[in-house]
Amino acid sequence: MSNNSRKILVTSALPYANGAIHLGHMLEYIQTDIWVRFQKQRGNTCTYVCADDTHGTPIMLKATQLGITEQQLIDQSSEEHQRDFKAFMINFDNYYSTHSDENRDFAADIYCKLRDAGHIAKKTITQAYDPEKQMFLPDRFVKGDCPKCDAKDQYGDNCESCGATYSPIELKNAYSAISGAKPIEKESEHYFFKLGDFEDFLRNWVDNHVQVQMRNKLNEWFEAGLQNWDISRDAPYWGFEIPDAPGKYFYVWLDAPVGYMASFKNWCDKNDTDFDEYWNKDSTTELYHFIGKDIAYFHSLFWPAMLEGAGLRKPSGVFCHGFVTVDGKKMSKSRGTFIMAETYLNHLRPEYLRYYFAAKLGSGLDDIDLNLEDFRLRVNADLVNKVINIASRCAGFIHKKFDGMLSPTLSEPALFQAAIDKSEIIANHYENREYAKAMREIMAIADSANQYIDAAEPWVLAKQEGSEQAVQDCCTMGINLFNIICSYLSPVLPQVSQDALDFLNLENYAWDNIKTPLLDHKINKFKPLMQRVEESKIAAILDETKKNLALQAATTPTVVKTPLQQEPIADTIEFSDFAKVDLRIVKIINAEHVKGANKLLQLTLDLDGETRNVFAGIKSAYKPEELIGKHTVMVANLATRTMKFGDSEGMVLAAGPGGEDIWILEPHQGAKPGMRVK
Ligand code: MSP
Ligand code: ZN
Repeated sequence: MSNNSRKILVTSALPYANGAIHLGHMLEYIQTDIWVRFQKQRGNTCTYVCADDTHGTPIMLKATQLGITEQQLIDQSSEEHQRDFKAFMINFDNYYSTHSDENRDFAADIYCKLRDAGHIAKKTITQAYDPEKQMFLPDRFVKGDCPKCDAKDQYGDNCESCGATYSPIELKNAYSAISGAKPIEKESEHYFFKLGDFEDFLRNWVDNHVQVQMRNKLNEWFEAGLQNWDISRDAPYWGFEIPDAPGKYFYVWLDAPVGYMASFKNWCDKNDTDFDEYWNKDSTTELYHFIGKDIAYFHSLFWPAMLEGAGLRKPSGVFCHGFVTVDGKKMSKSRGTFIMAETYLNHLRPEYLRYYFAAKLGSGLDDIDLNLEDFRLRVNADLVNKVINIASRCAGFIHKKFDGMLSPTLSEPALFQAAIDKSEIIANHYENREYAKAMREIMAIADSANQYIDAAEPWVLAKQEGSEQAVQDCCTMGINLFNIICSYLSPVLPQVSQDALDFLNLENYAWDNIKTPLLDHKINKFKPLMQRVEESKIAAILDETKKNLALQAATTPTVVKTPLQQEPIADTIEFSDFAKVDLRIVKIINAEHVKGANKLLQLTLDLDGETRNVFAGIKSAYKPEELIGKHTVMVANLATRTMKFGDSEGMVLAAGPGGEDIWILEPHQGAKPGMRVK
């Protein structure tokens, strides 16, 4: 490695440990990984670290919901996340966890420095509190009716129907999304980071460390005024306890970016690297954070201010990207376009997506549309028909006719040189995260190579007496151009370029290696390096996505609004009244849609030999075929009711908030039809 090589530390945002990696996430990890691989290819010392973001209320609640400990949940997520990243060829030097000793120590240390310098304030605030679960409720966990437009079931921070923003305390008919209980208002002392103390520093810093579009956004935030940032949460909370405040915990976003440092420290200790050289206030190393635009506030304001206040180095750059949309729309569960990394990988190789994202990525904040038809056509046209085709057109001749040997000279040195001359242009595009521009340059080289081969027609020459040398020369040119292209593409297509190296009998693609042409050089037998993307594979991905989402919806318990808040309690009945209800186990022997009915299914129930016809309002929650064969519970002594569709001879018990969330009672299969339920 040369002496003037740069020392660069790179991060991607730390994914939350309560969800699986999806293709939206993958944009960021692919963008970062390409950049890191490029830096390494250039001979720079570049270290890429990441971790799971493991703290906070959603993770605590998810663990409870699954009946496992937080530690079990985050261990499981970490394994799944790392599996998906590896499969997508994301080459982290270290993947760690924010729930680690290093992170606890750094977070505490930074906090104490901020506190000692007077940047922490305490204030008592009032918040929504769940009296049943005995915990404060984050805004997203309070639901109710919008105070402006009365839309039902809105979150505590804003209304999805009219767009109003408000505090959870203002919601009408508020309920806790965790227990369903009516929240009360409760006071508690919170700790705040005084962001305003850093306004001058930040205004200055922002000027040359973020993208132009981000700078405009940040200026809006400056104009709106920098508010104190609430960094504490009360127990019960899954996170790190604040050193001098028992029962108070750091808000997850305080220790999350510190996780970058923790992961790097963990790597330094294993790799004999000086951590302080990278994090000292006057460090000459470079530090870059790749993030999505939704978390820019944290990375361009809170984080640099925290670092400044703690006497540490600041990022050299925060690289913000836009959001992935699918077929022009936000990724969505209901549209079935919320595609998980794992689902994609079950059907297609990762490099197709790596290339497609690269072909669309610029340095700005624009959203990136994954148009599935365009994806297939683009990958097939560029990679299969253009790039791989060059090698497959030339390799066979070299192998069969010349025992794998390339010619001793280049027949078209100008063509070779033109491709080499693009080296710095392409490098600059990578460096500036203008991958789409880099891909265009590379594809132009591939076009010129194909045009050259089209014109030279080695397949015609091969049949002509005395043209051996011309065939070898032409194919040698083709193979040399292919080599250059694979080197340029190697940050994007690590496996293809590795396979190309094996085929070309080469060691590696250090950036300048391609400047030496391959002459008098023996290459190996060519194996097809990439197949076309088939339409059926895309259909299979969408199909599996829909199935997964249906499964998820069926197995995720939703919180039920307590009846108390919906309707007043009816008049009291005597136990003897209740005892009149005769509940019996029945077996559903048939279930059908009812013509003209929106809500009803027609059920045929076996009540120990006797058959009952019952109409049940559960069409939104069950498909007829999934009901057949199940046991359930019916009111057997309800008077027959004559309905538009026929007589209903009893009633099946079902409960739930409505829609997909209605459940019939399902006794175990050993329960015998006819048995009385008490
Ligand atoms: N845990 C925080 C980050 C803490 S960093 C100290 C977080 N996690 S996340 O899992 O929600 O998102 C991880 C990264 O993926 C973020 O940079 C986010 O912007 C990005 N993306 C999540 N969905 C995305 C798309 N649909 N499109 C592009 N990027 C997206 O935020
Ligand atoms: Zn509203």
